[in-house]
This record gives sequence, C-alpha cells and structure tokens, in this order.
Amino acid sequence: MAHPPFLAQGARAAIRRFERRDGAEFTALARMSRDLHHPWLSPPTTDEAFADYLARLSVPDREGLLVCVRATGAIAGFINVNNIVRNAFQSGALGYGAFASSAGRGLMSEGLALVLRHAFGPLGLHRLEANIQPGNEASARLVKRAGFRLEGYSPAFLYVNGAWRDHERWALTGEMWEAGVAAPR
Ligand SMILES: CC(C)(COP(=O)(O)OP(=O)(O)OC[C@H]1O[C@@H](n2cnc3c(N)ncnc32)[C@H](O)[C@@H]1OP(=O)(O)O)[C@@H](O)C(=O)NCCC(=O)NCCS
Repeated sequence: MAHPPFLAQGARAAIRRFERRDGAEFTALARMSRDLHHPWLSPPTTDEAFADYLARLSVPDREGLLVCVRATGAIAGFINVNNIVRNAFQSGALGYGAFASSAGRGLMSEGLALVLRHAFGPLGLHRLEANIQPGNEASARLVKRAGFRLEGYSPAFLYVNGAWRDHERWALTGEMWEAGVAAPR
C-alpha cells in the first residue's frame, strides 16, 4: 500500500507524517528497540498506546515525522516537533528516537537534516530546541552534528522514567541553520 508522499528526501533517508496504518510496523520496531531507548524514552509498543500517541500528535502544535529508508520506505526512526509556539516565538522542541534495526548508520542524522529543512522552511519555525539528559551521548552527538549549540542546563526539567530529570538545553535558530547549510560542517 502506498504511503503519503515524503515531505523531504535525502540520499538515503526521507521523512513523512505518521499514519494510523503505521501502527503495526512502528510498535514492532519499538518493542525490538527497548534496550536502545531505555532509560531515555518509551515510544508506544502496543496498538492501543500507538492510537493514543497518534491522537496526541494530531494537534496543530505538534508535527510528528517518521524517518524512513528512502529506497524501501521502511521506518528507521521518528523525529517529532513538539510544543510549537507561534507568534513572536515560532519555536518547537524535538523528541526523537532511532529503531534498533537502523541505528548507527547515519539515517537519523540525515533524517534530522530533512526535518530541519521542513521546520525552518514550510513549517515556518525560527528556533528548535532539543532537551537532552546529561549522559545521553548519542543524542547530544546527533544534535551537535546538525549544528545545535549547547545553551544551558535546566535542573528537574522533564518527568522521564519516574523522576524529574535535569536536561541540557541544545538549540538551533533558522539563522544558524541557514549559515550551516551555506557552509556545511
Ligand atoms: C539518539 C539516537 C536517535 C541517535 O540515533 P543514531 O541511529 O545513532 O543516529 P544516526 O543514524 O545518525 O547514526 C549516527 C552514528 O552512525 C555513524 N554512522 C555510520 N554510518 C554512517 C553514515 N553512512 N553516515 C553518517 N553516520 C554514520 C555515525 O558516525 C554516528 O556515530 P556516533 O554517534 O558514534 O558519532 C539513538 O541513539 C536513540 O534512539 N537513542 C535512544 C532514544 C533517545 O535518546 N532519544 C533522544 C532523547 S533526548
């Protein structure tokens, strides 16, 4: 069955919005990726949880995006733009995860570059944040590679895995992104 068109495509990765029929593939991948995701995040692993997740993503202040393998359409991971605030902010906060079957191959880095193009282009955002727990080195490497700057430290910022966790605040503005696209790192 054909999926909706990709919003952006790179050499190996492509991004598109979630659909209800992604549930079986997404939750199977999430079940196989528990070790990779623990203790940083816990995406839905059941049909019921996926339906709730999709409902929470289907609001104007969130844009849920799947990172796919361009050649096959297989889901490699997801990058959600959460907490979109308009008017004078034009900002959003990223939440993301790779799936174990595709992790460590550069697909999320390429997918993130496509999400940045989408967010600073058609979505019209000016600033993206990624809030990352100290010690989550793979996550910090991902956003650093994409040009994010470490801005500060937010104690007890987010309730994750049963406790209020400190986070590092990484951010990228449209101007920083444009400068990086013009002169790739
Ligand atoms: C953070 C996370 C999404 C990164 O995903 P990933 O699969 O490692 O990201 P990539 O696909 O871009 O792979 C990057 C790695 O692949 C390597 N790589 C291998 N082949 C590559 C290629 N052809 N092109 C680019 N990179 C390649 C890179 O060197 C890089 O390694 P490094 O991280 O040691 O520097 C993943 O670790 C994850 O899901 N973690 C758990 C959930 C989580 O922490 N979410 C974020 C909460 S803030």
